[in-house]
Amino acid sequence: MSDALFSSLTAAPADPILGVTQRFRQDPRPQKVNLGVGVYMTEEGVTPVLDVVKEAETALAEACIPHSYLPISGLEGYGLHVQQLVFGADSEIVRSGRAATVQTLGGTGALKVGMDFMYHVCGARVGATSLPTWGNHNAILKMAGYDVRHYSYYEASTNSVNFDAMLADLKALPPATLVVLHSCCHNPTGYDLSLDQWKEVIEVCRAGRLTPFLDMAYQGFCRGLEEDAASIRLFAASGLSFLVATSFSKSFNLYNERIGALTVVCQSKAEADIVMSQLKAVIRCNYSNPPAHGAYIVERVLSDPEKTEHWHEELAGMRNRILSMRKALADAMAALGAKRDFSFVTRQAGMFSFTGLTPEQVDRLAEEFGVYCVRNGRICICGLNTRNVQYVAESIAKVL
Ligand code: LMR
Repeated sequence: MSDALFSSLTAAPADPILGVTQRFRQDPRPQKVNLGVGVYMTEEGVTPVLDVVKEAETALAEACIPHSYLPISGLEGYGLHVQQLVFGADSEIVRSGRAATVQTLGGTGALKVGMDFMYHVCGARVGATSLPTWGNHNAILKMAGYDVRHYSYYEASTNSVNFDAMLADLKALPPATLVVLHSCCHNPTGYDLSLDQWKEVIEVCRAGRLTPFLDMAYQGFCRGLEEDAASIRLFAASGLSFLVATSFSKSFNLYNERIGALTVVCQSKAEADIVMSQLKAVIRCNYSNPPAHGAYIVERVLSDPEKTEHWHEELAGMRNRILSMRKALADAMAALGAKRDFSFVTRQAGMFSFTGLTPEQVDRLAEEFGVYCVRNGRICICGLNTRNVQYVAESIAKVL
């Protein structure tokens, strides 16, 4: 062979999160536990199809909707439902029409379209993420061409957010930096800001002319749909322009339907219309237009108050199971007299707990016990159930 086109390539490393699932699947041990990827599982260890989704899918199968293209921006009416969830049903942003929402390929797709839009259309060149953050934030920024910087967030010595350091780092960023913020259920740490702290962040963004990009992939997994959007509502009231990435992967258990949204909040409806045209241009040259199935499901549920109510109940059920597993893990670690106090697990929010386990301890957990976590020490609480939590606690206690 004489063509050397790919001969100098080396293999990319396995994804730090999705690669964990791959290794878990290959493990033949029956007691194995996957605490890697952020996917909800029931007490029985399966990702459930919600009742509201089952009902919608049955109705959709009967309706036999033609598989023609959706508009570039997504299903008609979908954007309005997203905005009502994010900003509140009667918010000024929804009423004034000063936000542009496009349906995207999950939350990741929303980040990708938003970051590309800001770079290629708006001229942003610097992107900043929290230390630590969800790894794909950095990867998508880098792939788009950004100079990727970081702001302090988690302080290991105190096992909490170092807010003063965060503010100082945000203040040092150049104007027009795209600042990625986790609006709730911070991934991976599980530590969120208080509303007073968010107000200070907003003022720093205003003073430094930073562009906030709020990632809300886990709305409903901390305290509730409305409560979890409280930080975004503060941004909405601030008058700043900003971006929001949202997802129904988690809240509807529609992971593989890739159903999310990007919302860009502008100063006026006229500006939002222009932004919408530019977002469509970004999407058209990327994947042309989005898939329909997930959007049909979400739209069917959210356009019917009774179905929406039932969805709220199902979401609360998932949230409460996670809370009970947080307590079960913390209690089991205390009862075992583990070398470290694990009560912090009950103070963290969302699907994840940042455990402080070292990469070596994570490797031992996988090799010796078949308990799989992300190497940065993040565990997904949703992988715990009443049958495996004691085993997981014992395994962790042994590697500490
Ligand atoms: C996670 O952080 O585990 C999820 O957001 C899934 C993913 O794509 O990484």
